[in-house]
Amino acid sequence: ATLREHNTFGFDVSAQYLVHLTEVVDVPELIQKAQKDNVPWQIFGGGSNLVLAKDLAGYTGLMEIKGRQLLKESATHFYIEAMAGESWHELVRWSLENNYDGLENLALIPGTVGAAPIQNIGAYGLELAQVFDSLCAFDTLSNKFIKLSKEQCDFSYRNSVFKKQPGRYVVVSVCFALSKEWKANLSYAELNKAFQGQEKVSAKDIFEKVCSIRQAKLPDPQVIGNAGSFFHNPVVGYQQHLELKKQFPLLVSYPTDASNLEGDWKLAAGWLIDQCGFKGQRQGHVGVYEKQALVLVNHGAGTGLELLGLADAIKQKVKETFGVSLTIEPIIYQ
Ligand code: EPU
Repeated sequence: ATLREHNTFGFDVSAQYLVHLTEVVDVPELIQKAQKDNVPWQIFGGGSNLVLAKDLAGYTGLMEIKGRQLLKESATHFYIEAMAGESWHELVRWSLENNYDGLENLALIPGTVGAAPIQNIGAYGLELAQVFDSLCAFDTLSNKFIKLSKEQCDFSYRNSVFKKQPGRYVVVSVCFALSKEWKANLSYAELNKAFQGQEKVSAKDIFEKVCSIRQAKLPDPQVIGNAGSFFHNPVVGYQQHLELKKQFPLLVSYPTDASNLEGDWKLAAGWLIDQCGFKGQRQGHVGVYEKQALVLVNHGAGTGLELLGLADAIKQKVKETFGVSLTIEPIIYQ
């Protein structure tokens, strides 16, 4: 079966066996089958953070377990739970409709709820970890369903235990803790500017604004294949940042901890790539998005290998120019 519709780059690779997972028990069943047949297995959510550069042997499960609910509430928080196969954006919309505010800065991120903790999705001033309570996963080491706390998930920038121990856990549901004392999070400069002077800003206002910023900057995967940011924003030490800033005064960077300007700095990878002249460039059937240099795109007939070739060329040029190594963000099957 082709996976073209199951990865947002739209790469046309095939899966030997494609399985729809609609119930929690389907997860251990798929793994057992693969183990019995002695073939590999993998489970995908929305396929929005994947580079598929080969045909996949064995069992490919599509996470389609649905459900979302208010699990409980305390004096201070609403706890909402969603199953892994729910659309992330639809969860954000549903939570706001029910007045559980707090997820609005993460509107319109493609993909599923179950995939969100893997890379600790983050955008427009908010990281998943900040609103995360716990999750349920199937642990392939102990062959049991377990609950993982926020600490156990070991979240950091675009990273988690799930990236550090790939293949160990399959997330089946996620629980979020949303504060009842909601405050508008306008820490992202463009949001702040958009609402300047406005006295009351609601979660729905932020939701709408984030949607419109994303639509203006990021390509819709339905129209042009992509997986959002293709590289992490690299982090450099204080000294290296100082030297870079001296040599490139227009460098776009942020302290990783706003209260410590002498610590590490995060560089805008999009700016680095843009400066190297890649923005809007095309190489065969793949390219760099014209409005955001951190986003690589498939113009239609591209392949994963072609895309990885372009990524290599970008990495090399950025290293040559700035002495900074970029790391690829999506998960690669090669
Ligand atoms: N810039 C350029 N040229 C470009 C792109 C960016 O000069 O072609 C500079 C601009 O100065 C811009 C700055 O870089 O202000 C930062 O760009 P942007 O605000 O678009 O954010 P980003 O650092 O490129 C990160 C996340 C995005 C997230 C946005 C908004 C990573 C890897 N990416 O992008 O996440 O939506 O911030 O918070 O951290 C994703 O992970 O897939 C993703 C889209």
